[in-house]
Amino acid sequence: MARILPDTSRTFAEYLLLPGLTGKDHTPRNTSLAVPVAAYNRGEQSRFQLNIPLVSASMQSVSGSDLAIALARQGGLAFVYCSQSIESQATMIAKAKSHKAGFVRSDSNVKPTATLRELLAVQRRTGHSTAAITDDGTNTGKFLGIITEKDFWEFEDNLDTLVSGYMTPVERVIHGRVGITLTEANRQLHKHKKECLPILEADGSLNSLVFKKDYVDHINNPRELLDADKRLAVGAGINTHDYMERVPALVEAGADVLAFDSSDGYSEFQKDAALWIRKRYGNNVVVGGGNVVSADGFRYLAEEAQVDFVKVGIGGGSICITREQKGIGRGQASALMDVSRERDAFFQKTGKYIPICSDGGLANDTQIIIALAMGADFVMMGRYFAMTSESPTPKVSIKGRIYKPYWGEGSNRARNWQRYSDEGTVDRLKFEEGVDGYVPVVGSVPEVLSVTLAKLRATMCNMGSLNLREFSEKAVLTLVSEQSIIEGGTSNIVQPDYNVTDDK
Ligand code: IMP
Repeated sequence: MARILPDTSRTFAEYLLLPGLTGKDHTPRNTSLAVPVAAYNRGEQSRFQLNIPLVSASMQSVSGSDLAIALARQGGLAFVYCSQSIESQATMIAKAKSHKAGFVRSDSNVKPTATLRELLAVQRRTGHSTAAITDDGTNTGKFLGIITEKDFWEFEDNLDTLVSGYMTPVERVIHGRVGITLTEANRQLHKHKKECLPILEADGSLNSLVFKKDYVDHINNPRELLDADKRLAVGAGINTHDYMERVPALVEAGADVLAFDSSDGYSEFQKDAALWIRKRYGNNVVVGGGNVVSADGFRYLAEEAQVDFVKVGIGGGSICITREQKGIGRGQASALMDVSRERDAFFQKTGKYIPICSDGGLANDTQIIIALAMGADFVMMGRYFAMTSESPTPKVSIKGRIYKPYWGEGSNRARNWQRYSDEGTVDRLKFEEGVDGYVPVVGSVPEVLSVTLAKLRATMCNMGSLNLREFSEKAVLTLVSEQSIIEGGTSNIVQPDYNVTDDK
């Protein structure tokens, strides 16, 4: 007969943390959110760490180059999705790696013969008010001048006149030459009180632009996640089918961390693929396995497949219908606690620490905090990042509200057969494991992270901890009854759903 586990399958929403003693030095400013990603031996440092414990899911509607850049700038990591051709995934990785903080390729460019109306259309499409004027209208053409929204009045000037009559011509533009350092470029911006410094090649063609706002942004983002060459760090999803071709292309493009994107990683297919990668690259790549929901699954990937980290979670994702469709999965809290326990036992026994990542089903900031308290070294999220302006999907207005599409990798729309089957020749979907829907747009990656991380730091202080290791070691959790969940909301007060005005 089947074995029935004695415990109930639990979710994060069923737990609360009990505060520990908060010392005088337990202030948010003193907390560190750095966490390990690569496995390490007792007494050593992990060879790859995050500066914040959040990564984005390897999903089409989540992790493209823009999100990879935005998240790495905040200290996290995006896993660029693998349900696309090897070439286009490698191109996305290379794009994020080539994002030189400070030197950006101009995305709004027109010829001098363009009309103001055409210029406005370009500015609206890109959302950027500074445009470069080049002889061929590209971002590498001969630089002829610059124009910003301050140079003309949309409702007063004749929009059918040419930009050449309004631009600041190259002779009067303060600019730099390729080879200039970022520090010197920023010094020029400061000295001449400018917002933008075009950087030109020796032959006068446009190379890049340096903006004052990026300097300010950099000063405000000291947590950027960088590789040894000071490029932004980027992760990549991989599968067990084409890894012999895909992995070399991704490593060549600069991927820092690889992670198997599989709904069930407790498999010999994953072991073979992980060992192939390890044999070829040794410890020069960081590779994660998963997903698993049990101690057995963790031990298999840790011992047999020699992965660097293990992702935990089946069936909890916001777009996921695996549990209904196939009857497999486990409450995310139960899965995570089981695997955390095994990770700690494995560390005691072998001296090797294998970080774990809680993947999917985090419905709000509180659940991120509970997952980290329960022992996740870091968390992976899809929906959370799909809702940001940097996710790769277009905004859509539905009944006066702004949304973005968000779909599961197991949906018919994603056509990601590799994620759901280890057979080599699956070419069509017999049943879906994910749905296709919309999520509200909530703001930019820095905006949403600033709130989440402020809550996390505050809770760490409540627990009397200054880093996330200490946080989970000190964490005391309690199961809550339905009544205490009701008690946790507001109670016995009136909250009108109209605006209260002061009549005085
Ligand atoms: P979310 O953060 O709750 O939206 O969950 C994202 C996670 O769900 C991903 O990291 C994947 O592990 C998982 N996932 C992505 N697509 C699907 C799907 O179509 N079905 C089931 N799980 C999925």
